[in-house]
Amino acid sequence: MSQLPPVLTIDGPSGAGKGTVSRIVSRRLGWHYLDSGALYRAVGVAASWANLDMSDAAALVRCTFDTKVDFVEGEQGLRVLVNGVDATDELRLETAGAVASAIAPIPEVRAALKERQRAFRREPGLVADGRDMGTVIFPDAPYKVFLTASAEERAQRRHKQLKDKGVSVNFDDLLREIMARDARDAQRTVAPLKPADDAVLIDTSGIGIDEVVARVLDLIPTSGA
Ligand code: DC
Repeated sequence: MSQLPPVLTIDGPSGAGKGTVSRIVSRRLGWHYLDSGALYRAVGVAASWANLDMSDAAALVRCTFDTKVDFVEGEQGLRVLVNGVDATDELRLETAGAVASAIAPIPEVRAALKERQRAFRREPGLVADGRDMGTVIFPDAPYKVFLTASAEERAQRRHKQLKDKGVSVNFDDLLREIMARDARDAQRTVAPLKPADDAVLIDTSGIGIDEVVARVLDLIPTSGA
């Protein structure tokens, strides 16, 4: 059997720093990058564009199969095209995250996205960022990390990010939203958010990105970190 390209899975709740850490680590290693959350968000956004009823599972499953998602490296960084339309900014909105989290428990939606995610595994390697990368999508990955941070810290980071962008939101609302999303993601029966048994846990509360990146790179023998 031919050897598959290596995968580093980085799972954890939203706001733990997965996205930032995964992007930096993939760049340092020269590996491909999979933002699996963007796939769920893309399907959610496509469903909203089509005015689908979010309780109509069959329609959402059809939408998952029909939605074309392309990741394109451009002058402004990585852009995500949904059915050919640049939806990068819309995908980052809280509303897109909430819709993604609402459709993510549907087993057929997850199944429909499985092979698409596995197709990202190409030489020289892949950094896969999500919730179930180490448990369901790449259970045989040689390197697995689970990033956590307290809900308060994650709400603070998100609050700052939004403030920097000129968006004013109430901190308590944000914290409540994050806690509700955590509970939904952890309690769903299909691929609930939990660390793989063989994942290395890193609590990012109070530590800077550089330190987290260094700890992750330490796990990869070829990284020269
Ligand atoms: O990582 P994110 O915030 O972009 O993800 C948005 C939602 O998508 C998240 O609330 C849960 C879902 N998701 C998932 O169920 N499995 C993944 N691998 C990635 C995201």
